[in-house]
Amino acid sequence: MYPAIVLTLFSVMCVSFTSCSHERAYAAEKSTQKKVRQEARIENGRYMITMGGCNDCHTPHYLENFDIPQSEWLVGSSMGYKGPWGTTYALNLRRLVFKMTEDEWVKFASTTKGAPPMPWIALHKMKESDLRDIYLFIKSLGMKGEEAPAMLPPGEEPKTPYIVFEPIFPKK
Ligand code: HEC
Repeated sequence: MYPAIVLTLFSVMCVSFTSCSHERAYAAEKSTQKKVRQEARIENGRYMITMGGCNDCHTPHYLENFDIPQSEWLVGSSMGYKGPWGTTYALNLRRLVFKMTEDEWVKFASTTKGAPPMPWIALHKMKESDLRDIYLFIKSLGMKGEEAPAMLPPGEEPKTPYIVFEPIFPKK
């Protein structure tokens, strides 16, 4: 009788231990999968930023040196773009993403119409999943840098260096 009870108890414990370790393995597997998915999303965000040319304007000196380390990307620029719209500055995206949730970013990016030369149409045409991955990628870089200068109205002389956007037509 006694050994039978012990044996039963032992096998019950055994079964529950096994299922416990199965649950742990399952949880670990799920969290690994989540991490792998997260990394794939960040990688796609990096790809979209690179292919979208966002660094050209939002990363200082990128057009002069494409090897600027990723840790310096998207901090905004104080090089003005002066045209009939006034003077604009490519803002600091490393700060912007920390001011909104992922859903707010998707809504903002798919409706915003920034002044030139911001190619906002590219953001409107992006797949929602790509916008979400971009958000995750920028956020993964961490907050960095100062805010870019505020936009100036037409006619106001910038106190920063600037590039003039002015079409010149050949003389007839
Ligand atoms: C040719 C230069 C240029 C490129 C390329 C560029 N931006 Fe911009 N971006 C700007 C400027 C300048 C502003 C500020 C516009 C303003 O003040 O209204 C801006 C503003 C923004 C804003 C704020 C919202 C808005 O529409 O003003 C977001 C978000 C943004 N850029 C994201 C991006 C992303 C993501 C990419 C790559 C797909 C990108 N930009 C490519 C110059 C650029």
